[in-house]
Amino acid sequence: EKDMGTDLAKVLISKDEIDAKLAELAAQIDRDYAGKELLIVGVLKGAVMVMADLARTLHSDLTMDWMAVSSYGMGTKSSGVVRILKDLDTDISGRDVLIVEDIIDSGLTLSWLLSNLQSRNPASLEVCTLLRKPDAAKVSIDVKYVGFDIPNEFVVGYGLDYAEKFRNLPFVGTLAPHVYGG
Ligand code: PRP
Ligand code: MN
Ligand code: MG
Repeated sequence: EKDMGTDLAKVLISKDEIDAKLAELAAQIDRDYAGKELLIVGVLKGAVMVMADLARTLHSDLTMDWMAVSSYGMGTKSSGVVRILKDLDTDISGRDVLIVEDIIDSGLTLSWLLSNLQSRNPASLEVCTLLRKPDAAKVSIDVKYVGFDIPNEFVVGYGLDYAEKFRNLPFVGTLAPHVYGG
């Protein structure tokens, strides 16, 4: 396992715990989409690890597409201003679409994304997120597949960044306060 160095305070969710949870979620998704052609949409950049590992665990007949949106910029707080940096390549009208996210924090990104994608008339639209912070929610969103509910702390790793760093950690951890000036 990678060295936590001095920038991380602790490991919150280990690689083994992530793998086990993704296997559980994949089994549920496989059952729910049996006989359907699932389109999973990863939200760049945070969702790359979840997408890659979830897709390899799923047995469903699926295709993958990506959207890039950003609401955080370089800070640790959601601005609520969502920008599309890259749109889907796929026409999702009539498709069974599952959005894959690394984390739902304030919920502002996903809330915006859901209404944006819903307006394109998919046959169905659901969300799978590895992490969710119930205490940080600014909007309530109906999320069908949730990995872990976590405390309202700034977390990094497994796709999640602080100023674009730490995404490549194989686990989810919390940052030491000195990293972000705490
Ligand atoms: C992060 C994270 C989610 C979103 C959640 O993305 O990956 O997409 O913020 O925050 P919210 O629920 O408060 O809206 P970010 O905007 O940092 O872009 P990134 O995925 O490229 O890191
Ligand atoms: Mn993101
Ligand atoms: Mg980010």
